[in-house]
Amino acid sequence: RMIYYVTPTYPRPEQVPELTRLAHTLMHVPRLHWIVADDQPICSELVGNILKRTRLPFTHISSPKPFIYKSSNFPRGVANRRAALDWLHENVSEGVLYFGDDDNTVDLRLFDEIRNTEKVSMFPVGLIGDYGVSSPVVKDGKVVGFYDSWPGARSFPVDMAGFAVNVAMLREGATMPFVAGHEEDGFLRSLAVELADIQPLAKNCTKILVWHTKTVKHKKPTVKVDLDKLKNTGRYHNLASLL
Ligand code: UGA
Ligand code: MN
Repeated sequence: RMIYYVTPTYPRPEQVPELTRLAHTLMHVPRLHWIVADDQPICSELVGNILKRTRLPFTHISSPKPFIYKSSNFPRGVANRRAALDWLHENVSEGVLYFGDDDNTVDLRLFDEIRNTEKVSMFPVGLIGDYGVSSPVVKDGKVVGFYDSWPGARSFPVDMAGFAVNVAMLREGATMPFVAGHEEDGFLRSLAVELADIQPLAKNCTKILVWHTKTVKHKKPTVKVDLDKLKNTGRYHNLASLL
């Protein structure tokens, strides 16, 4: 089975390093198709160049966030993940979908685990919230609840990187809501997932194989940088993305 790894991404100084690191992980994974969904009106060339160099099968699509989302607590990566869902719905009938943000850290063993997802599989994610981990609670091999520091009135209090879904589950109404903090729950509910459908992975959810790592934001230089002068040195090929 093919794994469809869906990564929303947006332009900022950390984008190229994050995607480079992620690319170098994904290049080790057999039968993986990388869907990179750009939060931009058109696909970024910088991102496209990274994708081409991986030699992985990939799809590069773009769908920018609606203009109304300017506040600090807006739902991140929803328009672009929705575009990826549409693409999957139209082009793929079998395989496994996994949402992997551009800044997460993934152990290669996770791919072996999620490849056999029957309906929905779940597993712990490290470095989440106040408990340091978000995980399904497993009893006698079945998921009976969730351990997460922010239940938030959610049926499925899980992180985006904490589940994989069989593509066959993507029915007509499958979507992700533009509601910060409820993207995962809303998506899983749109698939009509039930607790009994969930396959616990990672040794009954006792192993952490993916982490919600965050990169410290690069501080804008306080000195005025003469871009043209730097360009003339010919040494920096993606200056605009650095500043
Ligand atoms: C966490 C979860 O890991 C996300 O999957 C979830 O969408 C997000 O919370 C949320 O609930 O809003 P977090 O680390 O807080 O993610 O957020 P980011 O890493 O900044 O963004 C998540 C993903 O969306 C990343 O792949 C990022 O590149 C992308 N993104 C972010 C956009 O496409 N556009 C943006 O404006 C911001
Ligand atoms: Mn993140």
